[in-house]
Amino acid sequence: MANHSSSYPILCASFNQDTSYFAIGTRDGFKVFDSETGTLRYERAIGGFIIVEMLFSSSLLAIVGAGEQPSLSPRRLCLFNTTTGAALRELNFLTSVLAIRLNRKRLVVVLQEKTYIYDLNSLSILDTIDTVPNSKGLCAFSPSLDGCFLALPASTTRGSVLVYNVMELHSHCEIDAHRSPLAAIVFSPNGMYIATASEQGTIIRVHLISEATKSYSFRRGAYPSTIFSLSFGPSTQFPDVLVATSSSGSVHAFSLGLGMNQRSRRSSSFFGSIIPDSVNDVLDPAHHVLHNVVPAGVKSYAVIRKVDRVPGTSISESVAYRATVSIITHSGSFQEYTLIINQKNESSWRLERRFDLLTAISDNIISS
Ligand SMILES: *[C@@H]1O[C@H](CO)[C@@H](O)[C@H](O)[C@H]1NC(C)=O
Ligand SMILES: *[C@@H]1O[C@H](CO)[C@@H](O)[C@H](O)[C@H]1NC(C)=O
Repeated sequence: MANHSSSYPILCASFNQDTSYFAIGTRDGFKVFDSETGTLRYERAIGGFIIVEMLFSSSLLAIVGAGEQPSLSPRRLCLFNTTTGAALRELNFLTSVLAIRLNRKRLVVVLQEKTYIYDLNSLSILDTIDTVPNSKGLCAFSPSLDGCFLALPASTTRGSVLVYNVMELHSHCEIDAHRSPLAAIVFSPNGMYIATASEQGTIIRVHLISEATKSYSFRRGAYPSTIFSLSFGPSTQFPDVLVATSSSGSVHAFSLGLGMNQRSRRSSSFFGSIIPDSVNDVLDPAHHVLHNVVPAGVKSYAVIRKVDRVPGTSISESVAYRATVSIITHSGSFQEYTLIINQKNESSWRLERRFDLLTAISDNIISS
């Protein structure tokens, strides 16, 4: 989410559903980049945008203006075709659009007190969810058609999450994740896990959606900080790793296999069922921190684009892998690191590339 009164040149940034592309909104327009090469693939300079969301690698963008020009109202959602360079459809709302999520069947529009679910093709409204005041437009969405969930804050005083099934259009469960209000939520790619952080930002919890009572907690740090982003590894089987960015300026990566395996070995199903709130156990699993990636306080988003297991390592031994982590900051930088974790759980971060998003020159336009 963007705060357009901020002094940073980037008003919003988001990766597409499979992290193959990312889009940014600036005061001048919007740009789409290829995540693999960092190439600028599309740009339009038609005014400030606070939301730019892309549908996989298609020609469809959902964009919302920053309200700096009368023609770019923050209450209007525009579906934009990058091939024709023209608007396909516009939807107008009574209050500002705070977040948009898309998959091939659904369009989710988050407003302060209502969230609308649309059929993406016909743009007919399928459902309206009345929410608690959600001024940050906090939401998480798993784009997979099998486990297509939407998560929204369920309280303004506690960190509870409403999980809603977006294909079947019913609420799925409510998870009491933290004592203080939520600051960040994200699903694993197949909607099996959800990670949450509260406004305190010291603990990150991972919950299994099928057993909403069970959770795994990871300590990020001892001092409070604002979590800006959470992201799971891309595997649809098991997301080996989770990354978090925060106002501290560090990137934290947690090896999930380790913590989850230990946790499930320790807890019998008996204890699992009588202690619904097992959230007090805090694991300190293999935790790999990269300090000072971003100036402290600057909004940043990290995703794990790839995880390659090093051949010969099995689940029962310690995991050795290489993860590709891409980071975008509101100050305008793109950085890509390889996180290498060996069999001794020792880690190293290697900077692969770094460039300025605002000076990138257009190469060619997305063709499909
Ligand atoms: C955008 O326009 C192109 C060319 O007319 C068309 O092939 C494509 O399907 C359109 N995309 C969307 C999302 O409508
Ligand atoms: C690495 O992790 C494994 C579990 O996956 C654990 O048994 C081992 O003690 C850890 N080694 C170190 C050096 O932390």
